[in-house]
Order: sequence, then C-alpha cells, then structure tokens
Amino acid sequence: MPYVSESERTRLIEVRRRIHAHPELAYEEQATARLVSERLRELGLSPQGGVAETGVVAELKGQGGAGPTILLRADLDALPVHELNEVPYRSQRAGLMHACGHDGHVSALLVAAERLVAQPSFAGTVRFCFQPAEEGRGGAKRMIEEGVLEGVERVFGLHLWNELPTGSVACTAGPMLAAVDRFRIVVLGEGGHAALPQRVRDPIVAASQVVQALQTLASRWTDPLDPLVVTVGRFAAGTNWNVVPPHAELEGTCRSFSRATYEALPAKLEQVARDSAAAHGCEVEVHYDRTTPPVINDPAAALLGRRVVQRLAGEAAALSEGPGTRAMIGEDFAEFLELRPGAFFLVGSRNEARGLTHPHHSDRFDFDEDALPLAARLLEELAREALTPVG
Ligand code: NI
Repeated sequence: MPYVSESERTRLIEVRRRIHAHPELAYEEQATARLVSERLRELGLSPQGGVAETGVVAELKGQGGAGPTILLRADLDALPVHELNEVPYRSQRAGLMHACGHDGHVSALLVAAERLVAQPSFAGTVRFCFQPAEEGRGGAKRMIEEGVLEGVERVFGLHLWNELPTGSVACTAGPMLAAVDRFRIVVLGEGGHAALPQRVRDPIVAASQVVQALQTLASRWTDPLDPLVVTVGRFAAGTNWNVVPPHAELEGTCRSFSRATYEALPAKLEQVARDSAAAHGCEVEVHYDRTTPPVINDPAAALLGRRVVQRLAGEAAALSEGPGTRAMIGEDFAEFLELRPGAFFLVGSRNEARGLTHPHHSDRFDFDEDALPLAARLLEELAREALTPVG
C-alpha cells in the first residue's frame, strides 16, 4: 500500500538519509534544525528556531473553523555510537550515529506537515514540535519550560520500532514504555585486614547482599503482572586482595511501568538496601534520581490512533497487546503526557527479508524505510481526526 505519493515517498527517504549521514548529539542539532526550518518555510509556515537551544516549533491553522490546538512531536538527536552499516547514507561523522531512528521521525513529521498544508480542512491548530535531546538529556522538559505546551489540548508522537514488523503499529492504551530512574548506593562499613573478619564490617559482603535483595523487588514486592526491572550496572569496591575496604558503591537503574510502582519505588529501594546492609553491620547512603516518568497513553487518544491505523493499514495492523507493543525502555515524550492527554505509537520498522532486524542503539541499527509512509500518514491523520470539524 503506497500511503503517500511517489514524490512524498522520495522526500521521506531523501530527508531521512540526509539527516542520517549528518548525525548530531543532544543540543547540538544545528544542521538538522536548519534543515527542518528551511523545509517548514518552503511549506509557507513560520518556524521558530532556538527553542530549548536547537528545537523548532511551527504552527498551522486549519481552514475548517475554530478548534483546539494539538501537538505533533518528532525528536532530532543522534547517539554517540559508531556506525558499522555499509550503506550509501552511512554516518559521515565518526562516533556519531542515528542509531534510534530519530532521523526517520523528523522526515515523517515534515511530510505530515506538507500534507496538512496541502489540505488544511481541519478545525483548529496543529503545532509541529521538533525536539532536541531526547536521549536522556531532558529535551522535552526544556521545551515544556519554554512554553511549547501552552494552549495545547492533546499531544501525539511516534517511534519507529524494530521490535515490530513494518506495516504494524502498537496503539497501546495505558502504560507502554517504562519510567527511567537511576540510583547510586554507597555501602559504608569498616575496613581492615582480610584475615581478621571479626575486626571489620565488610562492605563488599554487605553490598553483595544488597544486589541480591534488590532483585526481590521485582519478584517478591510488585504484582507479577506489573513489570519492573532493577539492574545494578556498576559494582565498585576495594583496592587490594588482602584488604577489606571501608566502602563499596553500586549504581544502577530501575524501570517501572505503573504509576503506583513508580511512586513507591524510591522509598522501597532505600529500605531494602538499608535493611540488607544493616544485617552485616553496614550503613547505606542512597541517591535516587528520576530521569523520565513512564509513558502512559490516554485510552481515548490510543483508541483514536487505533482507528486511524485500521483505516490506513487494515484491521490487523493495529496492535494493542503482545510482543513489541510495550517495552522497558524510556522515552521523554512521557513529559508531555504527564501534562496533557495524548498517545505515543510504536511504528513497526523491522524487515527480516532485508536484514533490518538490529535493535535500537546498536551500531548496526537500521530501519525499513518502507515504514516511513505509514508513519507520516499516521501523524497527519491523528491531527485530522483530533481536529475534525463539527457538523
Ligand atoms: Ni529513540
């Protein structure tokens, strides 16, 4: 199914490849932002650049009468990954790569804008939001601080997704991507001679118990139907083989899904760490930081997307459960959803036949460009559906 015209399809791929070849990190997306602004100006819009440093915002008023404002968002940034793909549009910057598909999000939103400009029959306003720094650097939050949500009633966004085949779209109601938290636990004991355990309070043994005990948060504390991941990614202690050190340090991440678990997690983690270290005579200092909240889709907005996908791609294309429709990764679109109802969609972009199966953030990641037309149409039709003229 073509979804878009031949020339729109060409632009989808050309723009994506241009951005892919010139990746830029968080808050450094100047060339990408310039490309976006130029294209929006060509469409007759008046983009505002420099929002949250490198973000771009533009508005289009429909000709179908007065109505609400909705926001469509794409993210601009690449990752510090060195690309190993041998493709003509391969990254020209060593050590930097669009390894998550944000290049495709930008080109899809630009073609959605093009199509909405061509036929502005909707009632209300579409705000196009090109956001910097999605990859853990707080771009969404900064855009919100600079007013991008003012006057906005609903928000929509999408992510290309190699965990689903091209042609399918996850339209999940409720929690769909996880909250991302970080923690650092310092276990304080008392050092001494490795051969005199009776004279020390060993922080390595205590910290080992803390690591084990933290695993029971997911197995013995939460509802098994409420996903939770607790991973310790760094365990540092000691300087020498025959010395018990005075302290040990653990760092890791929690990924939670439901609002209740997200809220209760910091205090519970601290209690488990403190009590298991205390059993070995050690104390803990716990530093717990939020990165992004969970992505929780408004059921009505998810349903709206579901209808759009079914109309565009057929009944079977819209998935609401099963593998690939939820994940424990984070997305800072969650910040928008904390403040406005809306929905985020995962647009399938895996193509086994073409070998496009590598996971996001891999140095061999690439997505199926045949997913772009549906992504662009989904954004366009979400706007049209959300801004249907009455009567
Ligand atoms: Ni991403």
